[in-house]
Amino acid sequence: MLQNFIYDIPTKVLFGPNQLSRLAPELSVYGKKVLLVYGGSSIKKIGLYDRVMAELTQGGFDVCELSGVEPNPRISSVRAGAAICKEHGVDIVLAVGGGSVIDAAKWIAASACVEHDPWDFFVKMNQTPVEKALPIATILTLAATGSEMDAIGVISNLDSKDKYGRGAAPYLYPRVSFLDPTLTYTVGAYQTACGSADILSHVLETYFNVHEDESFYMLDCFMEGLMKSVIKYAPIALAQPDNYEARANLMWASSWAINGFIRKPQPWSCHPMEHELSAQYDITHGLGLAILTPRWMEYCLDDRTLPKYVQFGKNVFGICGDMSDMEIARQAIEATKKFLYQSLGLTDTLTKLNITDEHFGHMAAKVAHGRDGTAECLNGMKPLYQEDVEAIYRMCL
Ligand code: NZQ
Ligand code: ZN
Repeated sequence: MLQNFIYDIPTKVLFGPNQLSRLAPELSVYGKKVLLVYGGSSIKKIGLYDRVMAELTQGGFDVCELSGVEPNPRISSVRAGAAICKEHGVDIVLAVGGGSVIDAAKWIAASACVEHDPWDFFVKMNQTPVEKALPIATILTLAATGSEMDAIGVISNLDSKDKYGRGAAPYLYPRVSFLDPTLTYTVGAYQTACGSADILSHVLETYFNVHEDESFYMLDCFMEGLMKSVIKYAPIALAQPDNYEARANLMWASSWAINGFIRKPQPWSCHPMEHELSAQYDITHGLGLAILTPRWMEYCLDDRTLPKYVQFGKNVFGICGDMSDMEIARQAIEATKKFLYQSLGLTDTLTKLNITDEHFGHMAAKVAHGRDGTAECLNGMKPLYQEDVEAIYRMCL
């Protein structure tokens, strides 16, 4: 049973298609000098760049820009953005894009307030407390990570082949996020599928919490509702990219899957394993999760964890009939695979991405022992030691 916790999400959300006219008044609270952070060409193609610039110009803002933030955002973008903030005395960082842009913006906002190298935030955590950050605002264009409503940012370092996340509440919570589902109409099938797999994984990582003293009926029901929403609406968004209902359900689900409401103390498993995959091979986060998740479920299924699989199979996929609990659990895993690989059309093995077992040993060691090398195992639904993590990677081949 959940006992002591603090729920405190300071992010103001403006949801819906007609909210951008509120951009200037919402940002004005924090100052007039803005760093606009965005990725490649998508925001220009969809006319969003012009719209945002028009709002900011009319609102009397002075705008600096950092463009070219890549998927799996690089520490080099964070360094560049922090330098601009310092040089121009930026008051607020505005991220316009998906999770990568928002994550980069968060660590730019923190790095602008310190003198040390931004990468130290990820590898020298004890020496780099986050005590301040510039205010952050977001205009979300892709439903996936939930970064628009959490205090986490995940950054990659291509030189060291590391990808690390770090949360820093309350400083890295966006102060305000604009969630307009129509801005996601242009997200292609592949990114829509990957984003949906990511949302589903955020819920599954928490749902498959088998520690009895941490179970909470109301949250389980809420999570089942979130998962059913993704399973229902992702295929609709794929078939009809401009279906507002589908895009709106996915967008709000993405925020609520990770904004702290459903969080339980148990550490996650697939995410650390996936981050190591993207660190090594620069693959899309949601795709890595889609390949890993069913294998992790298969690996962790045993008599102790079985009841959760049965609950999942019955309540999320509606599996019923005269069969044993173990059979229901196995059907639940098959239904998860069917959703990810057939309904979403995602690739089902690492082999198809030309990934071999070459680096699995090293990657598994990093996952199991943590970034400072001191952990014994990844202590999620089931404790995963280095050999367990490696075995799961092998199941993905
Ligand atoms: O760069 P542009 O041109 O903007 O194109 C992007 C990018 O190529 C495109 N895109 C975004 N919005 C679009 C669009 N294309 C057409 N129309 C639109 N409206 O989509 C591509 C992928 O964008 P990206 O931001 O990388 O995707 P996502 O939102 O899935 O973010 C992934 C990153 O977030 C991290 C992941 O590890 C990964 O680095 N995560 C962040 C988390 C957090 N902050 O809490 C949690 C997650 O578990 C995750 O780890
Ligand atoms: Zn994720």
